[in-house]
Amino acid sequence: MGESTVKVQRLVKRYGDLVAVNDISFEVQPGEIFAFLGPNGAGKTTTVEILECLRPLTSGEVTVLGENVADARGTERIKKRIGVLPQDFNALRRLTARENLELFAAMYDNPASVKELIEVFGLQEKAKVRFDALSGGLKQRVGVAAALVNNPDLVFLDEPTTGLDPEVRRATWEVIRGLRGKGKTVFLTTHYMEEAQELADRIAMIVKGKIAAIGTPGELIKTYGGERTIVFTKGGDAVFGTLRRYFDNVAANNGDVLLPYTQTRDVEVALNALSERGLKVEMALRSPTIEEVFLKLAGFRITAEGEAK
Ligand SMILES: Nc1ncnc2c1ncn2[C@@H]1O[C@H](COP(=O)(O)OP(=O)(O)OP(=O)(O)O)[C@@H](O)[C@H]1O
Ligand SMILES: [Mg+2]
Repeated sequence: MGESTVKVQRLVKRYGDLVAVNDISFEVQPGEIFAFLGPNGAGKTTTVEILECLRPLTSGEVTVLGENVADARGTERIKKRIGVLPQDFNALRRLTARENLELFAAMYDNPASVKELIEVFGLQEKAKVRFDALSGGLKQRVGVAAALVNNPDLVFLDEPTTGLDPEVRRATWEVIRGLRGKGKTVFLTTHYMEEAQELADRIAMIVKGKIAAIGTPGELIKTYGGERTIVFTKGGDAVFGTLRRYFDNVAANNGDVLLPYTQTRDVEVALNALSERGLKVEMALRSPTIEEVFLKLAGFRITAEGEAK
């Protein structure tokens, strides 16, 4: 395997007495969408800003695109090759999307074509509208476009869809997948479980400055998600009673019958038992989600606003 795009070893960040990032290590590979998933205050922005060379670290070692963030020359080289959507992205209010992007582009030696960015992000119709008159979703899109004006290899997106409605959020996911399609590496932060599960190639769950678990969504679910469940829709008492003779862990829920299982043999046993008694059932298989993994590891859920609950 080639060199990691980001390599973090034993990173610690203190603000006075507060340990915001508490000894974390991880790597990001070229071309992947990597997500930091965690609640408000977990240390997502702090970590990302250290990687973006915007904030000094307290201890540990961090390399981005092969350069050390603690080295002034390295920092200079990193900044040329990364794109950044800050958590509180804002552009100049009175300027249009196009004017803003042109302003950003003017800061670089070899900028991307603003015309192309406007097209790629579907901003043509709105290119003449003042930034402050755009919807939240369009403002975020201008932000992602702005993060790309220097043709970066690695793009940081700090909560790119927070506050957007579900439809606009999904459209933004497509834009982010498009970045990966162009060979860019994407590092995003989010407190939305679904976003991490749907979008990320790998997820690091971050809780109170620590990485609780890291892996592909599939790996995390397999390792921490617990059992899969067969749901016998409206199975009722007969189905419940039959299965109860074979399985201790069968449960009834609003007329549905739930059977957690670990091996396909269990499914076979259940279906045979039901068919012997002439019980016709509709069934669905339910896999654990990233949300259940997070709950198990962190001990709490995250609300829509990003709060631990
Ligand atoms: N400049 C700062 N000075 C002091 N404390 C800070 C500073 N920036 C962040 N913190 C604290 O560090 C911790 C981590 O904050 P950080 O912003 O990294 O979290 P986050 O995961 O990005 O959360 P959010 O979802 O709110 O953006 C929090 O307790 C926060 O209050
Ligand atoms: Mg943050």
